[in-house]
Amino acid sequence: MAEHRFPPGFLFGVSTAAHQIEGANTNSNWWAIEHHPSSHVAEPSGDAADSFHRWGEDLDLVAELGFNAYRFSIEWARIEPAPGELSYAALAHYRAMIDGALERGIEPVVTLHHFTEPRWVTDAGSWADAESVDRFVGYVERAVGILDGVRYVATINEPNILGVMARVMHLGSGGDDPDRDRDIPTAPLPAPHLASEVNVIAAHHSARDAIKAARPDLQVGWTVASQVISAVPGGEDTAAAFADLVEDRYLRESTGDDWVGVQSYTRNVFGPDGFIRDDPEDTRTLTGWEYWPTAVGEALRHTAGIVGDVPMIVTENGIATDDDERRIAYTDGALSSVRAALDDGLDVRGYLHWSLLDNYEWGSYTPTFGLVAVDRETFRRTVKPSARWLGGIGRGIPSA
Ligand code: BGC
Repeated sequence: MAEHRFPPGFLFGVSTAAHQIEGANTNSNWWAIEHHPSSHVAEPSGDAADSFHRWGEDLDLVAELGFNAYRFSIEWARIEPAPGELSYAALAHYRAMIDGALERGIEPVVTLHHFTEPRWVTDAGSWADAESVDRFVGYVERAVGILDGVRYVATINEPNILGVMARVMHLGSGGDDPDRDRDIPTAPLPAPHLASEVNVIAAHHSARDAIKAARPDLQVGWTVASQVISAVPGGEDTAAAFADLVEDRYLRESTGDDWVGVQSYTRNVFGPDGFIRDDPEDTRTLTGWEYWPTAVGEALRHTAGIVGDVPMIVTENGIATDDDERRIAYTDGALSSVRAALDDGLDVRGYLHWSLLDNYEWGSYTPTFGLVAVDRETFRRTVKPSARWLGGIGRGIPSA
């Protein structure tokens, strides 16, 4: 195993998202999706890890394990349960979490939107509706008031995957499909829903401006899902087209931001006949992805090539596995690739592992990404060896 050393002040922590760990997110669109009679999801999120109530215990774990940062999301569906109607209790809840992190010496990295939205937003047309931009900014203007002491805020998690989800939902609702022509045959992801993409991008820019107007010191960015796209001879054009469609156009929107989040898990290779998948099935992770530990380093290099000198933070990287030794091996390779990127002069400010807890993986609890296991009935947390190993690396990082 490599010895991992990172510079003083390097953010080194874990990532989570509200819907995946809080439980009973009943006013969100995902809860509605999970309970729809024709739902495609294997199981509902239910109580998740009950982190809505156990966030203090979770923050204790983050600190005790040796991490210095915790990325979590605040839930729009709880903060604005009906149009323009705020829940001051929900705002106080998230404010308490931020205080809880600061009191423990943990840097809170706050995501304002992580895939979920209030049901009323969905009923009004979700991101395909042009008003979605103002709806989101209205929520953000309220939320920014609880962010004292926070340095890094992400407006929207994985706008590129959000665009793909919007397309899937749009198709499910039986709408016409003008995006069909943008699809790249054989590619692992369909083209994002263009009508939604336009508004998601506008929402990011408007939210960023609103946050900066209220809190010029806040470092604002968003987090982009890196697909780590490469080609063998003959696949270059398809690879470039796919990269532009699902990733690069979003990264180009980051060039005026304070930072960009890089989220990477695996890679995608194209050849003359399109997408290539020749990794043996029994080596794939529990999400069915290729085991490719150096993906994150490759993602950082690709991102830097587009965003230039915008600082990067790895806001997600991890592996769905029930073999914790494999989690350590994967993360060991991932950290070496981050270190190599730093050594080559890339401006990488942090590494936040996905995820602190085994959680709701958008339809199922089976793909376990957690450093910490969670009993689904007692919610008892059990620290895995990978958590101690990774936290030990965090402990070795000097403060700035
Ligand atoms: C998302 C997380 C998700 C993870 C693993 C990212 O796409 O931001 O919510 O759990 O990847 O699939």
